[in-house]
Amino acid sequence: ATVRYEAETAPATCEGTIDSNHAGFSGSGFCNSTNAVGAANQYTVNAASAGSATLTIRYAHGGTDTRSADIVVNGATVQAAGAFPATGAWATWTTKTVTVPVNAGSNTIRIAATTAAGLANIDYVELTDGAPPQQNGR
Ligand code: GCU
Ligand code: CA
Repeated sequence: ATVRYEAETAPATCEGTIDSNHAGFSGSGFCNSTNAVGAANQYTVNAASAGSATLTIRYAHGGTDTRSADIVVNGATVQAAGAFPATGAWATWTTKTVTVPVNAGSNTIRIAATTAAGLANIDYVELTDGAPPQQNGR
């Protein structure tokens, strides 16, 4: 199943502000992080079972610099300095997909900036649980 978690909805946290000045976001806003290394947007997500899940991060980046962030799941860095390429405009949203290991039940997903520019603006994350289909069907 795929469940969406909005950046503006607790228990999600946004180290910065929840803004709504760039159109096209879902819900009532998006996370505009502080422009600093370590600035984070964090989510608590649920998985039906332990294993591999797909994390989809919807973001916009209207600047010309390269934004990057560590993707940290339950305290372990799954992707170090993952790239969030520019999208051309702050109202142009796209998604970045990362395969993540999850525990059954509650999991913490933290997206933490690794450059002084902070994060791209983040609209939401979606977690799709269940392993991707395998060739042998298992
Ligand atoms: C602009 C933009 C913000 C964005 C910021 C940034 O101020 O309006 O939404 O977060 O640039 O570069 O991080
Ligand atoms: Ca920002």
